[in-house]
Amino acid sequence: MKKKNCVLVTGGAGYIGSVTTKLLLEDNNRVIVIDNLSSGQKKAIPNGAQFIKGDVGDKKLLAKIFNKYNFDCVIHFAALIRIEESTQNPKKYFDNNVLAGFNLLQTMIEHKKCKKIIYSSSAAVYGVPTKIPITEDFLMQPINPYGQTKKLFEIILQQYADAGLINAIALRYFNVAGAYLTKNRAWGENHQPESHLIPLILQSVNSKRTFTIYGNDYPTRDGTCIRDYIHVYDLAQAHILAMQKHIQGYVVYNVGAGKGYSNYEVFQTTQKVTSMKIPFVIGNRRAGDCSILTASNKKIKSALNFNPVKSDLFTIIKDAWQYEKLRG
Ligand SMILES: NC(=O)c1ccc[n+]([C@@H]2O[C@H](COP(=O)([O-])OP(=O)(O)OC[C@H]3O[C@@H](n4cnc5c(N)ncnc54)[C@H](O)[C@@H]3O)[C@@H](O)[C@H]2O)c1
Repeated sequence: MKKKNCVLVTGGAGYIGSVTTKLLLEDNNRVIVIDNLSSGQKKAIPNGAQFIKGDVGDKKLLAKIFNKYNFDCVIHFAALIRIEESTQNPKKYFDNNVLAGFNLLQTMIEHKKCKKIIYSSSAAVYGVPTKIPITEDFLMQPINPYGQTKKLFEIILQQYADAGLINAIALRYFNVAGAYLTKNRAWGENHQPESHLIPLILQSVNSKRTFTIYGNDYPTRDGTCIRDYIHVYDLAQAHILAMQKHIQGYVVYNVGAGKGYSNYEVFQTTQKVTSMKIPFVIGNRRAGDCSILTASNKKIKSALNFNPVKSDLFTIIKDAWQYEKLRG
């Protein structure tokens, strides 16, 4: 059967990139993955994708790849993602997330064949919002270098799109979680070190370590921070919808479930899913954590017919737990 699209996926050995690659393949697209394996794993790349080990910042390699393939779309996941590390070493983050990505854009423009790019942006671009839920027209006021790299790359995309050089969709993800499970395999979150709440609680279950909830004196219903969780399967589907959408210029969408769960609710649901009593303590607030971050997802729902089907907390944690058990 003729393939629908030929897609370049950067960062396809990582968490979200590997799940999206899997769904793109299931949707009968041809997928070429480029990844430098700085945090991703070769074994996460689904069978059927072509893998090129290399860095998005490598101009010669990218030229070779764009000479060889006629891409219909580029999906750019490759990035460093640890907020704390970005505050300690901002240069590393600007080099990798902005300069290397800039090289990708330059190559796309020079080769003239593929104008469309879908970009992994983040709720981190908003900083501390003054109103909830967050809509796409809120000012971008990031509070850490990681968020700044995402904002800067969005600005470059927007300016290039305004000049007619590219067509770009930036997807601003909220908290991504969960796993994609097939009969024989599972793809899930495997960051080293892990900094995300759900895999951290699940690791406490496995290691029988006491779990720390940071702060219970926020102005929320139970005093703990509230976040919007999007299942990685729903997020991957959002990329396929974005790829299918014909656009001119630059468009940005929030990708969240449009609903918030508190850290304590996540913790309690994890106990329910795993049928385990997990010991916990309340720690001090962490610097930079704001009380509530939830998305308005109205725009993506109406423009792309986005319909999250797995983004309820129980399903997210159930799938993440299944993945955690399978990988041991
Ligand atoms: N995980 C989340 O909750 C979340 C939330 C908002 C935004 N995002 C964004 O989504 C994207 C994917 O995140 P993830 O959680 O899958 O991270 P991840 O670390 O699992 O995956 C990133 C992948 O990119 C690769 N990579 C990094 N720099 C590269 C480079 N210069 N050249 C080639 N490959 C490179 C890594 O090896 C890794 O495989 C990132 O852009 C991140 O900023 C993630």
